[in-house]
Amino acid sequence: MKIWIEDLKNHVGQSIELKGWAYHHRSSGKVKFLVVRDGTGYCQCVFAKGHCEEDSFTNFEQLTQESTVTVTGTIKAEPRSPGGFEMTAQSFKIIQRAENYPITPKEHGPDFLMNNRHLWIRSKLQHAVLRVRAEVISAIRDFFNGRGFTLADSPIFTPSACEGTSTLFQTKYFDEMAYLSQSGQLYAEATCAALGKVYCFGPTFRAEKSKTRRHLIEFWMVEPEVAFNDLYDNMELAEQFVEYIVQRTIKNRPEELKALERNLEPLLKVKGPFPRVHYDEAAAMIKKENPEFVIGDDFGAPDEAIVCAKFDKPVFVHHFPTAVKAFYMKQDEKSPEHSMSCDLLAPEGYGEIIGGGQREDNLELLLKKIEEHKLNRADFEWFLDLRRFGSFPHAGFGLGVERTVAWICGVQHVRETIPFPRLYGRNYP
Ligand code: 4AD
Ligand code: MG
Repeated sequence: MKIWIEDLKNHVGQSIELKGWAYHHRSSGKVKFLVVRDGTGYCQCVFAKGHCEEDSFTNFEQLTQESTVTVTGTIKAEPRSPGGFEMTAQSFKIIQRAENYPITPKEHGPDFLMNNRHLWIRSKLQHAVLRVRAEVISAIRDFFNGRGFTLADSPIFTPSACEGTSTLFQTKYFDEMAYLSQSGQLYAEATCAALGKVYCFGPTFRAEKSKTRRHLIEFWMVEPEVAFNDLYDNMELAEQFVEYIVQRTIKNRPEELKALERNLEPLLKVKGPFPRVHYDEAAAMIKKENPEFVIGDDFGAPDEAIVCAKFDKPVFVHHFPTAVKAFYMKQDEKSPEHSMSCDLLAPEGYGEIIGGGQREDNLELLLKKIEEHKLNRADFEWFLDLRRFGSFPHAGFGLGVERTVAWICGVQHVRETIPFPRLYGRNYP
């Protein structure tokens, strides 16, 4: 009977069959050890001379890393073994013998690993990161589905820019031009007028010519939008959301976080309320440590790090200058040079994982902004209709999945948090 390694606990004492890949093997006199991985876990299979079939003992010499194998034997509990179980092996067969697997236990450079990403994802740490990613995504969906939000996905082909025209990918749409979506927000604003509480969740695209550890060209973003929420309701929702994702991942993915040697202490502190800092206050903090910083500018990664370092929890910065934010951001009625925006900065130097705020719901002000940002008004008539027919206060945000996964896993670069990253200068494999 073929069993998945994650189900071994239900088969202690039974003779079963495992199918998978040879992860590691070694001989020690009359005993040979083979660690098999099948994607759901790792299992050590122990071959002892005189106890297993004679030819499987000899065949052991044929084994290579990543050869596919079938192993049969009896399962026993073994607390010292990874996963807690071990197989007293009877026999094994090589299904396909892998020759010269390129990724070896020695150190490889990032370029080599990225060129072999299709194989690199089989290694233990990459496997752990991808399992955490899947858990984060399922936590995201459960959080919103459990709170009465309706999933309403936004299109990927769009006629206009959401987050500025400098990072748009253009493509032909039959005889017209189209852009790949940078954010589903504008459409979420429309669906929230139909459905009240919505979220969209999908890939987004930005032609950012920057090679940093936080930028992908294609990344996944979840974007809730709520009718009649203001900036402060928005921060409360984001706070509960991030606490839920982090605490659930700690609970459901302990093995993976352990494999990644993630220090759980800072993650366990991720519980609301998160500190909230006005832009002016944050800018003053930055100016003290980085005299080059110009008050009124957006933050760079080192500036965010200065603010993050002051707190041991994620921190909201709100009321960014209207001038540095997108056209749709509501301006503060009492201080129009400030916008009703908020970013959430993750601790431990990870920086911005959420951007959002309250939307401009005044038709005249929105028209003025579209003009100031030199956007083509005709492309936005449908969006302006939302202000003509029952305009309403509303707010939302976008959380970047890869930056969130990098932070939770404690990995340095977002390229390891998605199966096949698209980066500036890389579209392979
Ligand atoms: O701050 P951003 O640009 O906000 C928006 O797109 C809003 N329209 C969202 C909304 O209010 N509905 O992007 C939101 C988040 C960032 O905080 C970051 O986590 C992630 O998306 N992000 C990226 N992640 C990886 N690579 C990139 N190039 C990213 N750009 C943004
Ligand atoms: Mg942002």
